[in-house]
Amino acid sequence: MAKGTAVITGASSGIGAVYAEKLAGQGYDLVIVARDVERLSALSKRLSHDHGVAITPLPADLSNAVDLARVLAKLRDDASIRLLVNCAGIGPKGAVLASETEGLSDMVYLNVDVLHALTINAAKTFTDRSEGAIINIASVVALMPERFNATYVASKAFVLALTQALAVELEPKGVRIQAVLPGFTRTEIFDRAGIDITVIPPEMMMEASEMVDAALAGFDSGEVVTIPSLSDVGLWQTLQGARLELGPHLSLKHAAERYHAAEPS
Ligand SMILES: NC(=O)c1ccc[n+]([C@@H]2O[C@H](COP(=O)([O-])OP(=O)(O)OC[C@H]3O[C@@H](n4cnc5c(N)ncnc54)[C@H](OP(=O)(O)O)[C@@H]3O)[C@@H](O)[C@H]2O)c1
Repeated sequence: MAKGTAVITGASSGIGAVYAEKLAGQGYDLVIVARDVERLSALSKRLSHDHGVAITPLPADLSNAVDLARVLAKLRDDASIRLLVNCAGIGPKGAVLASETEGLSDMVYLNVDVLHALTINAAKTFTDRSEGAIINIASVVALMPERFNATYVASKAFVLALTQALAVELEPKGVRIQAVLPGFTRTEIFDRAGIDITVIPPEMMMEASEMVDAALAGFDSGEVVTIPSLSDVGLWQTLQGARLELGPHLSLKHAAERYHAAEPS
């Protein structure tokens, strides 16, 4: 059966390029999005030759409103599209206090606003058709806010929360959504951020191909959240359980006893 078309953002390198390779191998036609026209064109030729699928390069700077609108229009108007993979993203160059505010805002725009617009657009289009799926690349730093650049961490926490919340709305309408939380993954993101990859312990660095294979296995098994490195899934389930247990205590008529003002003496 024809798989339909997958739209992959950030497909010119790293995790997005690996998704393109794997999904072409599964028989998906692809629309590949990124800024680098030459790389998109080379990838397109190679994958269509190797896998016999149709690849459409869609060069776009997603931080540019006109380019983003073209990609949103493609998602809305091309009825063959069944899968959106949001990989386009940028990492931080150091800690927040050492960074230019403008650069941090650019990161929030691409990692949050653009991903949000693409996700919501796809969610609406796919639910109208009662089929389709969205894969959002978040990061394990969403679970470890104290360990990394605050703006990047917050952008990835947004992706995780958006995905978990939307899953509740989408599931009854026959549309799947998954957040993938990679740890360190060997890609160009470190070069682009000016980080020397050799300072990262090798036992913490996964190859992009292994990461994407695990993420796709998690997707096939129906996971909403996939953490490729995590062997003991019980740890994640415990965290989710503790979070849900908080539910009945989070919105009540009166403040907790410890916040009551001391009686004046
Ligand atoms: N590598 C890791 O350790 C790691 C860990 C956790 C999460 N992630 C996340 O994984 C995702 C992919 O990153 P990666 O590691 O594969 O890095 P990467 O190799 O640097 O890939 C980033 C991709 O995003 C595209 N991109 C950047 N700015 C863009 C823009 N304005 N418009 C359109 N495309 C743009 C780049 O292509 P062009 O330059 O051609 O536009 C490239 O294809 C990111 O969201 C990242 O936060 C990575």
